[in-house]
Amino acid sequence: MKQTMIKKTEDFVKEKLHGESSGHDWYHIYRVKNLSENIAEKEGADHFICVMAALLHDIADEKIAGSEEKGIQEVRQWLESISVEDHCITHILSIISTMSFKGGNQAEMSSIEGMVVQDADRLDAIGAIGIGRTFAYSGAKGQLMYDPEIPVREVMTKEQYRNEKSTAVNHFYEKLLKLKHGMNTSYAKKLADDRHAFLESFLEQFFGEWEGRK
Ligand code: ADP
Ligand code: NI
Repeated sequence: MKQTMIKKTEDFVKEKLHGESSGHDWYHIYRVKNLSENIAEKEGADHFICVMAALLHDIADEKIAGSEEKGIQEVRQWLESISVEDHCITHILSIISTMSFKGGNQAEMSSIEGMVVQDADRLDAIGAIGIGRTFAYSGAKGQLMYDPEIPVREVMTKEQYRNEKSTAVNHFYEKLLKLKHGMNTSYAKKLADDRHAFLESFLEQFFGEWEGRK
């Protein structure tokens, strides 16, 4: 039963995110789902809730749905249409809405399943994949990979974050290097430490090469 619901939801999300280029393509979802399963097992979180929330977590993003409310509504309709139990629908929607709006990625999760999926989403922004996504996103927005004359923005509003000029390398300091401190679960913290170390060694090599020292 639950396996069928998961499979149907996978197909639904794949179809919806086809050709999505804002960093929320199907394979981001695929990775967040796999990470969520992995973390859920270690942390004793409910598998079904974690997988379903991971699969649907970006559908309510305003960049995809137009508005968060519309997105949440659409996810509710989907879950009802495949006969997910009411209490599961409530839980999944609460995770997704906390992830996609109430303060964006800074929001506190109230259930272990929410913590797991939020950790998985944050992990996908660091490590080798995170580096790849950052350069891809920057390129798509027409930013340089690095410009020593563009300062790192220490404090910024969500608007500035989205709209002001930056670079891929600045984004490491503006967001990526901060993410390991926000992990909820201990297994995700362990994974984040390794991914964080990878970011640091990437930057060291990058600046070495930038100056022709390496
Ligand atoms: P999510 O909603 O999955 O947390 P975002 O929509 O903020 O992530 O970003 C998608 C991907 O693009 C992430 O890997 C993120 O680090 C990267 N990204 C977001 N904003 C920028 C930016 N200003 N410069 C470079 N990369 C960015
Ligand atoms: Ni995401």
